[in-house]
Amino acid sequence: MKEFVFDRLVDKENICNLEKEKAQLFSLVKEKENVVVYAPRNYGKTSLIKNVIIPFFRESNQSPFIIFCDLMGVKSIDSIISRISISLAKEFNTKSSLTKVIDSLKDIFRSIKPTISIDAFGETSFSFDFDKGSTNTNFYSLFETIGDISKKYEVLLICDEFQDVSFVEEGEALFRDAFQKLNIPIILLGSKKHLLQNIFLGADKPLSNWGKDIVIPKIEYTTYHKYINERFRRKNLEISLEDATFLQDMMNRNPENINIVCNDILQNNKNIQISQETILISKEHVLFYREGRFQEYLKSLTESEENVLVALAKKEFTISPQSKYFVGLTDYTARTIGKTIRRLVDEGIVEKDKRGYFVSDVLLKLFLKEYR
Ligand SMILES: Nc1ncnc2c1ncn2[C@@H]1O[C@H](COP(=O)(O)OP(=O)(O)OP(=O)(O)O)[C@@H](O)[C@H]1O
Ligand SMILES: [Mg+2]
Repeated sequence: MKEFVFDRLVDKENICNLEKEKAQLFSLVKEKENVVVYAPRNYGKTSLIKNVIIPFFRESNQSPFIIFCDLMGVKSIDSIISRISISLAKEFNTKSSLTKVIDSLKDIFRSIKPTISIDAFGETSFSFDFDKGSTNTNFYSLFETIGDISKKYEVLLICDEFQDVSFVEEGEALFRDAFQKLNIPIILLGSKKHLLQNIFLGADKPLSNWGKDIVIPKIEYTTYHKYINERFRRKNLEISLEDATFLQDMMNRNPENINIVCNDILQNNKNIQISQETILISKEHVLFYREGRFQEYLKSLTESEENVLVALAKKEFTISPQSKYFVGLTDYTARTIGKTIRRLVDEGIVEKDKRGYFVSDVLLKLFLKEYR
C-alpha cells in the first residue's frame, strides 16, 4: 500500500526515487565490485539494500548467500567478529535444507567449528565457534570461511554503519587484508560522512581509495511533490509544488521527517488543498506527540551536550561554534564547546555542511528551539 513510512525500513513500493542508485548497485554487484554507499541519516540506505538489492540478489543468483551485518557502535575487533558471526549464522539459518548446505560445505570448516542443534519443535539451527585462537586469528578465520563459502555459493557481503570501525584500533587494516582476499561483491554503508571520508580518502589509510562510491543525493523537490500527492489522493488532498517545497525545506529535505509530517497531514485532513498553515499545524502536532521521545533521547546526553545542542538549534546554522558570540550563548569555555561538538558530530547528532554546524534531526531541532 502507498503510505508514508517512518520509524522503520521503507518497503520497495514506498521508496521514493533512488532509481539511479538502484541501477548502479545492481550492475556493480553483478560485476563483483566493492561499493561504498554514502548518505546522511535517514536517506534510505538500509531500506534500499535490504528491500531492493538483497531481494534482487536472491532472485538473480542460483545459490545466493548474503551476509548483512550492522557495525553500529562496535568498540573492538571481538565485537566486530561477533556481529559478523551472528550474521553468517543467520544466513545459514534461512536455508530450508540446512543440513544439506552444511554437508555441501563440510570441507570448508577448517577454522570454525559448526554446531547444529535441534530444538523441541524439531527446528534445526546453526551456530559456530572458533578453534581457540587470538582475536586477529579469529578475524582471519571468519573471513577465510566467507571466502570458502564463496567457492560454492554466490556471496554478497554488506556492512552497515561501517564508519564505526574507525573507532576500533587496527579495524581498518584488518578489514583491508580480509577484503583483499575475497572475490565477492562487498557493500559498505555509512551515514557519518566525515568518518567515512577519513577511512576511504585519508592519505596513507589502509582502505584509502577502496571501492566505488555511490552517493545518495537529496530527492528532487518535484519528485517528492509527486510522491506526496500520490499518497494524499486517498483522502482527496492535494498540495502545490510551492507548498510541498516549503514542507521539504522546513524538514531540511530529510525524507523521514517529511514523511512524519505528511502522515500527520493525511491523518487529520480530507478533501482540501493543503496550505502552509495546515503544514505548520501538523508540524506542531508532531512536536507535541513526539515530545516524550525527545525528552527520553535528551536523557542519554550529558549536560554540556544538551546545552550546546540547544544553542545550535536556536541558531539554525553555526559556522564557528568557538566564536565569542556562540560561547556567550552557553555557560562553557570555547575548549569544552569544541570537544562537545566533536563528540556530537562523531555520534551523528550534529552535522556540518557549507552552511555550518546544525542539529541533524530537524524535528529534534524544532523541538529544542520551541520548547527549551
Ligand atoms: N527514498 C525514500 N523514500 C521514502 N522514505 C524514505 C526514503 N529514504 C528514507 N526514507 C525515510 O527514512 C527512514 C529511514 O530509512 P533507512 O533506515 O532506510 O535510512 P538510512 O539511510 O539507513 O538511515 P540511518 O542513517 O539512520 O541508518 C524511513 O523510515 C523513511 O521514513
Ligand atoms: Mg541505516
